[in-house]
Amino acid sequence: MWGGRFAAGPSAVMREINASIPFDKALWRQDIAASLAHVAMLGDQNILAKEDVAAITNGLRQIEQEYAATGVPEDWSLEDIHMTVESRLAELIGPVAGRLHTARSRNDQVATDFRLWVREATDRALAGIATLQRALIAQADEHAASVMPGFTHLQTAQPVTLGHHLLAYHEMLRRDASRFADARARADECPLGAAALAGTGFPIDRQATARALGFTGPMRNSIDAVSDRDFALDYLAAASQCALHLSRLAEEFVLWASQPFGFVRLPDQLSTGSSIMPQKRNPDAAELVRGHAGRITGCLVGLAMTMKGLPLAYSKDMQDDKPPVFEAAGLLDLCLAAMSGMVANTTFVTERMREAAEFGYATATDLADWLVREADVPFREAHHITGTAVKRAEALGVGLADLPLDELRAIDGRIDERVYAVLSVEASVAARRSYGGTAPAEVRARVAEAREELNR
Ligand code: ARG
Repeated sequence: MWGGRFAAGPSAVMREINASIPFDKALWRQDIAASLAHVAMLGDQNILAKEDVAAITNGLRQIEQEYAATGVPEDWSLEDIHMTVESRLAELIGPVAGRLHTARSRNDQVATDFRLWVREATDRALAGIATLQRALIAQADEHAASVMPGFTHLQTAQPVTLGHHLLAYHEMLRRDASRFADARARADECPLGAAALAGTGFPIDRQATARALGFTGPMRNSIDAVSDRDFALDYLAAASQCALHLSRLAEEFVLWASQPFGFVRLPDQLSTGSSIMPQKRNPDAAELVRGHAGRITGCLVGLAMTMKGLPLAYSKDMQDDKPPVFEAAGLLDLCLAAMSGMVANTTFVTERMREAAEFGYATATDLADWLVREADVPFREAHHITGTAVKRAEALGVGLADLPLDELRAIDGRIDERVYAVLSVEASVAARRSYGGTAPAEVRARVAEAREELNR
């Protein structure tokens, strides 16, 4: 392809270090789509003759069918997907194939292909997030009033509803979706026509190719167009943040499925057995989602390091942009699918969750709040009185709600029998009606909002 200036071919090492075809063949659909848009524009601008455009277009369509049927051949001496397509085109239609590369360069070509690929990955992420959000909303609706212990420091803190807890993840995913949408909007400009870096002397129509490929318009600066990879970094940043959220959700499932918790029974389809311990149901899918967040974030950091300090415009380092994005996207798609299945098909053991909420003196704050409200005790003092009550309940081996009234009154005479109304876990969650709070009524209101927003 570029042998004119050379007396000898590349060494084996050169060929191997140079070849990106093993991974960039994933761009074949985008590469052909961009070439089709380019050649059509060359025809419309009378840069190429109509019959050449027709021959090239037919050839490209045939290659499209071949690759769809039998995959992309991997010949290292052809370096990358762009050369692979072009050399196949030459085999099919002869020397006229050489006219396709008029007024473009592999630099704007790869930037365009890769943007198209990342845009599709972004749309997949958005769809995957929406599916997971639907699953969360459905379970939150069903469990709007199911009580579980809410934790801080992984110590029982206050009772919450399972629906409320699940909707917390829905909120994280809402922001993740907005990050992806934001990244997509910023990547919505087309590099094609920037050529090697300086633009071209041919009378091309960059608006036309941009529109044909579904972009709002061409990138404004040809040097930037061939050297920008922040669209890929934006994708990876959004993917990392999303994966970090998924890893937290996954970790909760790992924890909840562990026998001392026993809060959930994971779906068979997303659990594995042990080759030695017959009783085991391991949460491997959740553990892998937890783990994959590390790899995805590694991809972000990897590409950031590739780009750091590169002078304008294109440098070959940038060929390394694709593997981390492909890897991260594959992992993220899997993580979203796994967590959707897990959320939708897990059985929540609600009796067990409720029991656990009772166990840890989770309504201690309710006792303190009652003293503040009903007996006008300053909160700090109420906190101290409640601490004494918890200590007494612990000594007697009972929950707060089971502490006899005379025991409570011995601690503070201002307590009367009305206090029992706030000591149950149900009363505790029902009372927390502040906006965004854990009360079943609040959770149902948020579920309705979330549903409406998703359907919009
Ligand atoms: N395979 C190359 C890449 O992925 C295509 C661009 C090559 N451009 C060049 N001037 N060598 O970046």
